[in-house]
Amino acid sequence: MNTYSSLDDLSPQDRDLVHAARAAARYAYAPYSGYAVGAALRTQRGVVYHGCNVENAAYGVVLCAEVGALAAANVDGAGDVVQVIAVTGRLLATDAKQSIAVVTPCGRCRQLIFEASQRARHDIRVLCCNHDLSRIEETSIMALLPSGFGPANLGMG
Ligand code: THU
Repeated sequence: MNTYSSLDDLSPQDRDLVHAARAAARYAYAPYSGYAVGAALRTQRGVVYHGCNVENAAYGVVLCAEVGALAAANVDGAGDVVQVIAVTGRLLATDAKQSIAVVTPCGRCRQLIFEASQRARHDIRVLCCNHDLSRIEETSIMALLPSGFGPANLGMG
């Protein structure tokens, strides 16, 4: 895992991606947790898709930000060419600068990203960011979900 404390250390494309993730968090609907998350993924074609978390009064049916971004890619025929995904988040009640911790994808999102990696036939980079982008942890889905359950378990691929 690589940790960055300056955006200058990212490639221009990754810099754009983390900014896109943070911009997407502005549209989060998170009245219950008060935690706004944004995600942005980029495909091999260089196209970026966004998502934000969308909560529900029936708490368990929340849509994570990564789900929105993956769904947007899929509906555009790009579910099998995902290369990298960035995630940012912040507690709305606190000063943005105090949201120091980076967002790491939840278990369900790891499983969804893992499936995308199986379709793409390569690992997917994951940029876990805090809200002010002062800390970015670069990892990958194979590191976040080793030995993931996938198509091979069902005798496919
Ligand atoms: N959340 C995400 O959107 N992505 C994650 O990977 C972690 C959690 C959202 C779900 C919920 O709306 C809020 O963060 C607090 O759990």
